[in-house]
Amino acid sequence: MSNPDFTEKIISLSKRRGFIFQSSEIYGGLNGCYDYGPMGVELLKNIKEAWWREMTLREDVEGIDASILMHPKVWETSGHVENFSDPMVDCKECKARFREDQISDSDCGNKAYKGRKASKCMDDGKFTEARNFNLMFQTHIGPVADESNIVYLRPETAQGIYVNFNNVRETSRQKLPFGIAQIGKAFRNEINTKNFLFRTREFEQMEMQFFVKPGDDSEWFEYWKEQRIQWFEKYGMRKEKLKFYEHEKLAHYAKAAFDIEFEFPFGWGEIEGIHNRTDFDLKRHTEFSGKKLDYFDDQTKERFIPYVIETSAGASRSFFAFLCNAYDEEQIRKENQDGSFSTEVRTVLHFHPSLAPVKAAIFPLVNKDGMPEVARAITDNLKKNFRVFYDDSGAVGRRYRRQDECGTPFCITVDTQSLQDGTVTVRERDKMIQERINKDNLEKYLFDKIAFK
Ligand code: GAP
Repeated sequence: MSNPDFTEKIISLSKRRGFIFQSSEIYGGLNGCYDYGPMGVELLKNIKEAWWREMTLREDVEGIDASILMHPKVWETSGHVENFSDPMVDCKECKARFREDQISDSDCGNKAYKGRKASKCMDDGKFTEARNFNLMFQTHIGPVADESNIVYLRPETAQGIYVNFNNVRETSRQKLPFGIAQIGKAFRNEINTKNFLFRTREFEQMEMQFFVKPGDDSEWFEYWKEQRIQWFEKYGMRKEKLKFYEHEKLAHYAKAAFDIEFEFPFGWGEIEGIHNRTDFDLKRHTEFSGKKLDYFDDQTKERFIPYVIETSAGASRSFFAFLCNAYDEEQIRKENQDGSFSTEVRTVLHFHPSLAPVKAAIFPLVNKDGMPEVARAITDNLKKNFRVFYDDSGAVGRRYRRQDECGTPFCITVDTQSLQDGTVTVRERDKMIQERINKDNLEKYLFDKIAFK
């Protein structure tokens, strides 16, 4: 069910707490581009770290980091130059441009007709015939900008993996089945960029291509489907917010394709695709480059082109999904100064501790009696290993609320007892339960709770 208010709340919190800012905001912003603020960059880094560890701590997956600019032939071979396009129509009256397949969801571009649907303009015959619009950003390499030196900003990271198949296999001495993982920026000149971070023009992907013997592909496809949905669950995504969507209409080279979908405030949307791409990619690059991208099995003495099982997640889109999944507004009981009780709303981000941008906040209960010195010393010790935050301003309740909105899993308070016996209170974000811990044990306590496992 669509919930625009929820999206507005996420956007507002993202700005208020430094997760996401509009790109070039002081110049009015740049459509479809966003900047990650101090909290956002930590969350994104932790999501990528969780994915990278999951993939490359295995013995059968190697990592790479390929160049964003690639030889233009790569994109001819992959089919992107010819086919990576959306059908577009222009309104002859207001000159707005629409994706033909999204007209029913679009509003008329003319401000004078507020509330009019674009489908009405279509019925009134205001639109041009559909034309294909390629989604790749073009630029030129070198000082002369002409047809002969066009290059593209990569629209996916996968091709950097296929063209390095031989390099990685030879240098790592991997045998089939094995995979190559990569995290990196991708660029698409999307026509319709609505829904905040869901569809942007610059974004990051986390892709892994797993090379297998033909015949073993269906089994590995099922394996990776399960691994990938479990990864999202492991990092706190609620099961009921995740589902598989099976593609019935497949790309000509694909044997099977499933999306992992998350229930965003505007409805279900893809966060990752798992594809059985057969031998299409390596075969095409072999054909167009003249270099054999195949595999010799020394046990069976067979030579063949491996099949590829692709897992392709958006880091930026997963970020948005993790943010929506974590967001909560809770009614909590609050004790007033006169001892009476009232309720208040607590906005909290229930991030998995390994993903949380800040791991702990450290507070002196009051700014006197030596408490700030002890709290500072704890901060200085913990910051060697964790991203922590020292805060001595305002009532402790207010400090908790600020950290709840950033998703900080632990708040450590130095109080009068701390000065006597060296213990501090540690308040856990979700249940808001406090326990007393000796300050010398804090480092181990945090490691146990937040380490990637
Ligand atoms: N190599 C296959 C591939 O790129 P895709 O379904 O086009 O497949 C994979 O993209 C993932 O990349 C998507 O599931 C999504 O998470 C992310 N993604 C794609 N386009 C995006 C966009 N414009 N903005 C943000 N994320 C995007």
